[in-house]
Amino acid sequence: MSTLTVLPSGKTIDVAEGTTLLAALLGAEMGILHKCEGQAKCGSCHIYVQEGRKGLSKIAREENERLDTIVGIGSKSRLACQAKVLGTENVTVELLGFGSGV
Ligand code: FES
Repeated sequence: MSTLTVLPSGKTIDVAEGTTLLAALLGAEMGILHKCEGQAKCGSCHIYVQEGRKGLSKIAREENERLDTIVGIGSKSRLACQAKVLGTENVTVELLGFGSGV
């Protein structure tokens, strides 16, 4: 179990190991786009991981290829639908646009 902190709202969520960030956010009724329903095809669930990157699954080829197509990508970028919580450390993410976490 890890604690997920969502910026900018600062809301915290307890997340079980193996849960994607997208599932955790939707389960907590936090607004985040997910146009392709978690297939790593749309990029709409793009977020920034501000803390605890080692507490998430590694970036697979499919996610990496999708991230390369997104404007504004940075070293902290992940797709919420692909990043799974490992349960080893707490994670802080920043939502963008619609997914402001408010
Ligand atoms: S929901 Fe489409 S890439 Fe994550």
